[in-house]
This record gives sequence, structure tokens and C-alpha cells, in this order.
Amino acid sequence: MRYINKKLTIENISVENIAKKYGTPTYCYSYDRLKENINNFKKNFKSFSPLICFAIKSNTNTNLIRVIKKFGLGADVVSMGELMMAVKAGINPKKIVFSGVGKTFEEINYAINKNILLINAESESEIKQIEKIAKSKNKRVQIGIRLNPNTDAKTLSQISTGKKENKFGVNNKTFIKLVNFCKRSKNIYLKCLSVHIGSQILDFKPYEKMLKEISKILEKVDHKFEFIDLGGGMGISYDTGQKKLNYNKYSKAIKKFLKNYKSKIIFEPGRSIIGNTGTLICKITYIKKNGKKDFIILDAAMNDLMRPALYGAVHKILPSIKSGKISKRPYEFVGPICESTDKFTTLNNFQELKEKDFIVMCDVGAYGMSLSSNYNLRPKPVELLIKGSKIKIIKKRQKLKDFI
Ligand code: LLP
Repeated sequence: MRYINKKLTIENISVENIAKKYGTPTYCYSYDRLKENINNFKKNFKSFSPLICFAIKSNTNTNLIRVIKKFGLGADVVSMGELMMAVKAGINPKKIVFSGVGKTFEEINYAINKNILLINAESESEIKQIEKIAKSKNKRVQIGIRLNPNTDAKTLSQISTGKKENKFGVNNKTFIKLVNFCKRSKNIYLKCLSVHIGSQILDFKPYEKMLKEISKILEKVDHKFEFIDLGGGMGISYDTGQKKLNYNKYSKAIKKFLKNYKSKIIFEPGRSIIGNTGTLICKITYIKKNGKKDFIILDAAMNDLMRPALYGAVHKILPSIKSGKISKRPYEFVGPICESTDKFTTLNNFQELKEKDFIVMCDVGAYGMSLSSNYNLRPKPVELLIKGSKIKIIKKRQKLKDFI
């Protein structure tokens, strides 16, 4: 995204033109940015060519998953729906891993029928359930066990998953017990040790600590893991000047780890692949002066973009046309929903805005549309894929008649 003659443009198309043609609120994704992210990700870890499984939960749009598949990525799924979507988008089941603490009988059954690469189990009960289903089908199923490495990811507590108080994975003691159980099983192949310590991680040190914890446990168990699945979590910069994850250091730490353990590395990135490819175009419905600040009331709300209300996340906001005139009053950007948390951010010294102007919320490609809902019976936005001067509708705007 950049300003050309003061007009904000995505690839070669101005935000104004998109908004006028497709209405608002509208999710737009940049094809070029997606391609660049995937290539960069591959480049960062090319010395050990990992299997990169895109975390479908971050964005479930079939067309985007198809593009991601085209660049050779697999998928990390956490439900039957996501698994079906990954398969529908053409991802080879041998590149699909299934994570999650509560996989049901139906989900495990479906995953086994699809012969996916790995079911990453998270408890003793789940492993027993997998074994039972595999036995009934006379099959031997490839699984991973998710270790909870008790590592602080130094990210928001709500998206931290690797500490012992979190529901994810199993502790060292249980891990060792389960490895021994799997080794005795005729219906299970224990192929993988998996971890995922959290999301939006910007400091490389938690990853280093996580690798140390994995090494410790590998020394204790007498088992060769074909795969080590390190999960996702690589953070992106949501604000200019925000700290960036040092991929070089992370990659070096993994290479060092691989000197002792010759396994194939799997990653499950979501945000780092799709996060900065997406923007949400919104229109200002009203501006309400209130004491010392102005409420900028948008036509997008927390149902369209949940992250600010859910985690206090802040997305950068840009005007669709740069005027250079700065407002003297603080702006509070809010949606029309009947909740006080339906608020995006408050900004000082923002460009002067007026009703009917368009603004853009940046970096909403991950956990934007996938977390959206129909709260207040609001239809979900249209999704567009921009490639150069071409626009493709990759998901139609919902209509009220779809649910009334
Ligand atoms: N693998 C597993 C097992 C996960 O639970 C997740 C994310 C990922 C991979 C992908 O993580 P990523 O690379 O995207 O950070 N809704 C929150 C994020 C929740 C992440 C949940 N798990 C947000 O909007 O920030």
C-alpha cells in the first residue's frame, strides 16, 4: 500500500475506487504481498527446508488458501471444517497437520480417512481415542504429541499457549509416559513432537528457550522423531517502528538444534504469511463531537474486526486521500455496535476527517475475517483479492436475506 498522488492505493488500484465500486466495509488482500511473504518465509529457513503448514484459522478464504497451496505450502488445521477447506483448496493431505485440544470422534475419524500427515494429539485420552479408531479400521495412524514446554512467549496473555497453566499440550512427565505408550501400540506411529508457544511473538528468546526445552525432553526419551513441529507464532509489526522478530537468529538456533537431532522441521505460520496482506476499507457514517474528542463512527464494527475488542489490539488507520490538514481534536474510531468495546483506537493529530470519507485499517489479513461474526445481525463484508490492476471477488458480501 502506498500513496500515489495523495491517493492510497493497493497494488495499482485506489482505495476510493474500490470502496465506490464494492461498497464498505470491505476486506482487500494483496496478491503480491502474499507471494512476497511466502518467499521471504521460505528464504529465512531455506538451509533446512521445513514443511510450512499454513495455519488455516488465521484466514479461511478458499481462494487465498488456493494461492498459498500454489506456492507449495501445506496446512495446519484445528477442526473438521478447516480440514475440509484445506482439502477443498487442493492441499495434499500428506502436507496437513491437525492440532487442537478437543478433537472429536468425527474429526479424528475424518482425519484418519483422509490419511493426513499428522494428528498432533494433546492428551492421553485423545491418543487412546485415536488408537481405538485406528484399530477399528485396521490402520496405523501417524501422530505427534504436543509438548507444553512451560515457556513464556512474552506476548499478550490471551494468545500465549506454552505455559504450564495453559490448556495446551502435555507436560514433560506425561510426554515421556505417552511416548512409551505409543511405542507399544500397533495402531499408532509416533512421528512427531509438536509445540506452539503462542502468537504474535516478536522476541526470539522464547523460541530459543522452547528449543532448549525440546532438547531436554529428547534426551530423556529413547525415540527417534521424524518430525519436530515448532508451531507458528512469528509476529509482524502492526505499527511503524515496532520491533521485528529476528528470523536469522531463530533460524540459526534451529540449525544448531538440528545438529543433534536429525528431524524434519514443520512450521505452522498464520499471521506472518497473511497478516499484512489484508486491509479493511471502512466509511465514516457520522462524526460526533463529544467534549474534548470526536467519535469517528465507522460502518465497520467489532463483528467485522474483533481483535481490538478481544485483545486490545491496535491496527494502524490511514485516510484514503491524504489532505495534509491535521485535526486539533483527538479522534476515537468506533463502530456502530451496542457495546462499549466496539472501539478500534484513539488517535491524536490524525488528518482532519469528514463524514463519508473512507479510511483503511491495516494488517487485518490474519484473524480479521476469520474471527468475524454476525453479531447485531450484521452481514459479513465482501473479500477482494487485488493483483496489479485486477480485482477478484473471493467471497461475496453476505446479504440480510441470507439469514432473515
Ligand atoms: N499453530 C497452532 C497450534 C496455533 O494454535 C496457532 C494459533 C498457530 C499455529 C498460528 O499462529 P500464528 O503464526 O498465526 O501466530 N486470534 C489471535 C491469535 C490466536 C492464535 C491462535 N493460535 C489474534 O488475533 O491475534
